[in-house]
Amino acid sequence: MSNDGVNRGRRRFLTGATCVVGAAGVVGAAVPFVASWNPSAKAKAAGAPVKANIGKIEPGQMITVEWRGKPVYVLNRTEEGLDTLDEVTDMLRDPDSSASKQPSYVDPRYRSIKPNYLVMVGLCTHLGCAPMYRPEVGIDPGSGQENENWLGGFFCPCHGSKFDLAGRVYQGVPAPTNLTVPPYHFVSDDVIEIGVDPEDAA
Ligand code: FES
Repeated sequence: MSNDGVNRGRRRFLTGATCVVGAAGVVGAAVPFVASWNPSAKAKAAGAPVKANIGKIEPGQMITVEWRGKPVYVLNRTEEGLDTLDEVTDMLRDPDSSASKQPSYVDPRYRSIKPNYLVMVGLCTHLGCAPMYRPEVGIDPGSGQENENWLGGFFCPCHGSKFDLAGRVYQGVPAPTNLTVPPYHFVSDDVIEIGVDPEDAA
């Protein structure tokens, strides 16, 4: 690999991101799902919306919120992470999400309402496994070997599907479409409600 400035920059990002994942992993093991203001377990199972406080998610970190029995990932993307979205489009199957599920009110470039906060259902569109967050730039998420094309994203351990930092699926993997963006809106700067479109919010 060449030692140009870009790659050195990515390596620094890699080091920082790895630490973040380690910390998030510990939290995740102890508390699988972030506490949210669920009306009740019964109502939640029936499809009630779920609110989540996202104000403490550091850049590069991700939390998981349970909604309708599904994991919903909320990732606070870094500026570097957002920059990668335009770099990978040639390698994606559905870069503009025309064949994938996402609400019409999200910005198609970021697949989100606010650029940094990605909110998406953490279930692979192949057979429903939970893709893993793999922000380590330059390290192939499947083999662990150097791969300069990997700019961070999500990796499904079941059959190897790869997704970018907007949940958009790469070409040549089993998953047919991008990860799903659920309906959601911002209740305040720090709180989102998953399961309600902005126009239906009280
Ligand atoms: S379930 Fe994700 S690749 Fe098969």
